[in-house]
Amino acid sequence: MERTLILLKPDAVERRLCGRILTRIEDKGLKLVGAKLLKVTPELSRQHYAEHVSKPFYPQLEAFITAGPVLALCVEGPEAVRVMRELMGKTNGRDSAPGTIRGDYGLSRQMNLIHGSDSVESAAREMAIYFRPEELIDYPLSLGSWMFADDEVK
Ligand code: RTP
Ligand code: MG
Repeated sequence: MERTLILLKPDAVERRLCGRILTRIEDKGLKLVGAKLLKVTPELSRQHYAEHVSKPFYPQLEAFITAGPVLALCVEGPEAVRVMRELMGKTNGRDSAPGTIRGDYGLSRQMNLIHGSDSVESAAREMAIYFRPEELIDYPLSLGSWMFADDEVK
């Protein structure tokens, strides 16, 4: 079973798309284990996007991600990291396939609505940035056994 860190970015909050995006995540069968509305500070942005800090586009990325609140989510499911990246679509909304979140709701490379961790290692690092351990809730879902078979998760 995997967990991944999702951010509904300031453009998603501003455009009031959080409900629709969350519905897609829930409809897929992923389980919500953490949620928090917060403003990303420049320091938090540098921590989150450490791999991009030295790139030419970083100042623009920081200005965007700190411009308004984000909804940070932690979701759980079999191969949650990869499943979420596929639900999101490619980085640039102009390239992402129809049916994906970025493909259906945007046409920007920067204002692409949603962040999802790109590996299990990144997910662990990013979850620790946004959530204290006790803010991630372990709980059973009564329909859980109807979502996938026990032998599909390690
Ligand atoms: P994210 O980290 O936000 O989930 O996006 P991603 O993995 O699909 O894309 P990544 O390469 O990690 O880039 C992070 C964010 O930086 C902005 N970006 N701008 N101007 C540019 O060339 C450029 N490239 C990336 C995007 O907002 C992207 O989501
Ligand atoms: Mg990324």
